[in-house]
Amino acid sequence: MSDRLHTLSGYLYEYQKSIAQPEEFWARIADSFHWRKRWNKVLKWNFEGPEVKWFDGATLNITENIFEKQLYTIGDRPAIIWEPNEPSEATRTITYRQLFHEVCRFANALKAKGIGKGDRVIIYMPMVPEAAIAMLACARIGAVHSVVFAGFSSTSLADRINNCEAKAVLTSDGNYRGNKKITVKGVVDEALEKSSVDTVIVYKRTGQETNMVSGRDFWWDEVLEGQSEENAPEEMDSEDMLFILYTSGSTGKPKGVVHTTGGYMVYTKYSFENVFQYSPGDVYWCTADIGWITGHSYIVYGPLLAGATTLMFEGVPTYPNPSRFWQVIEKHKVNVFYTAPTAIRALQAFGTEPIEGYDLSSLKVLGSVGEPINEEAWHWYHTHIGKGHCPIVDTWWQTETGGILVSPLAGITPTKPAYATLPLPGIQLCIVDTEGNELTGNSVEGNLCIKFPWPSMIRTTYGDHDRCKQTYFSTYKNMYFTGDGVKRDHDGYYRILGRVDDVINVSGHRMGTAEVENAINEHPKVIESAVVGYPHEVKGQGIYAFVICDMTNRTEENLINEIKDMVSKIIGPIAKPDKIQIVPGLPKTRSGKIMRRILRKVAEGSTDSMGDTSTLLDPEVVEKIIEGRK
Ligand code: PRX
Repeated sequence: MSDRLHTLSGYLYEYQKSIAQPEEFWARIADSFHWRKRWNKVLKWNFEGPEVKWFDGATLNITENIFEKQLYTIGDRPAIIWEPNEPSEATRTITYRQLFHEVCRFANALKAKGIGKGDRVIIYMPMVPEAAIAMLACARIGAVHSVVFAGFSSTSLADRINNCEAKAVLTSDGNYRGNKKITVKGVVDEALEKSSVDTVIVYKRTGQETNMVSGRDFWWDEVLEGQSEENAPEEMDSEDMLFILYTSGSTGKPKGVVHTTGGYMVYTKYSFENVFQYSPGDVYWCTADIGWITGHSYIVYGPLLAGATTLMFEGVPTYPNPSRFWQVIEKHKVNVFYTAPTAIRALQAFGTEPIEGYDLSSLKVLGSVGEPINEEAWHWYHTHIGKGHCPIVDTWWQTETGGILVSPLAGITPTKPAYATLPLPGIQLCIVDTEGNELTGNSVEGNLCIKFPWPSMIRTTYGDHDRCKQTYFSTYKNMYFTGDGVKRDHDGYYRILGRVDDVINVSGHRMGTAEVENAINEHPKVIESAVVGYPHEVKGQGIYAFVICDMTNRTEENLINEIKDMVSKIIGPIAKPDKIQIVPGLPKTRSGKIMRRILRKVAEGSTDSMGDTSTLLDPEVVEKIIEGRK
């Protein structure tokens, strides 16, 4: 039987089956993959540990399912179309067969450098096909990749290298982003002053002068020399680690979300095909960076497992001008386009003129991911990009969920602006109040939880299982807690309302308030700080920092700039506060806890309804903060 859902009634039927008999359901889906050894049991689980095992006892290699399984039929089909930053530079098209050979060669190169099963490899690279090749080569030999977004600072990179005790870093000399040429290897060198690896492999992208440490650093082409195009894949256990991806939470440093092999493979392919209703031959373009989960699941693994043609774009939406996305869609006749609300809003700000003259008639399906999409942006996307006939799939999911959990199925599920609509088969959502009571029926609002495992879910946080338990499985008993607020409307449709914890979503990127505060506090003149999110027209949320400083010999302006630079240096430019307000004090309760609720109100400008401030140690400080509001 085909795994493809084609009608709403078919979806409803399959959904019921997936809930009533989850193991039978997923076994049937998993049957279409190539396993070296079949599972003994489809699912073993408890959310107390938590311990979740999918396809227990099975063995496989995920790249065998991308390549060997499909080469006979689709070897000559384009796997990756690469569109460079500079429109005048040549596009690269790589077929499945060519990609297979490149992955094998690089897998052999990694092995020659002593990297093998279970070793952790950091990938800190621009959006070039070699980044995907690197990920797949790791998977081929059973090494665990951890991709770090190339915009992160050397400190963030070093933290990740140290946390997973990586053996190698794969990187590039530099990176082109819009009109900028960015040094990449230099950042790696800085990071390696605070951490260490045996091997660094450097892909030449910009050709800029690059320092190479003898015995540690090697050029990509050099390590590939003489490597065979054949490589015997490592036989992996279904629950062997596939990758680690670091993400921010409400406390402490980013944690390494661990995904394993079998379940992730099954779920990413299944969700990709069904959500986007991908048809063979379609050109699919997801604009995310592979440094994020969206890039992992829906640029690399999901599409390639489905035999799709996936477009990789190196640049930014506004370079050389705000027509770039539309020009790329026309050039490559893109059929499925998947982007983030922040990009839509940024382009919307230029009006419709940049779209005029571009032929977008190839488009069939539009997607949105990363943050709530506001109705205005939804309508603009639908009318001006989809010309009123392309369904929009508003896909809700997280780094931890591995794949899309709530989304319309394109052209099947009736959509509603700003609603992620309905759960995918196998996903048992649950809305709870703050005490953990399940809110049943429709027209309810609360915290979003999931009460049954799904194949691509987080297994642990690397090196600290207790942190995984505390963060996701302890707030509510026997449930995975997402950290998001949600509403189920009168039709039973889900609308994600945003984070209910101290996580800010800036342009679809997750930032922990504590993480930004820690970076601000590194400045020698800073005494204390508190960071909150506030509504931002383009970014969705902006970062607003309230900071108590020692102002001796300093002007406000230069101090603010220094603090911004500090955050940029410690975390990366994406964490730079949009607004910094120097304050005389912070609103604290008598027990010393900062009342963030008040700061959020100030940041969003709704200062006429501050609520009860009587428990504050010094209520007057609120007046002073309001007066100085940015
Ligand atoms: O708050 C939700 C928001 O992004 C968070 C997950 O961020 P991250 O792990 O970086 O993954 C982003 C890409 C999957 C969620 O907790 N989010 C993601 N998608 C949506 C969303 N909020 C509303 N609607 C969405 N479609």
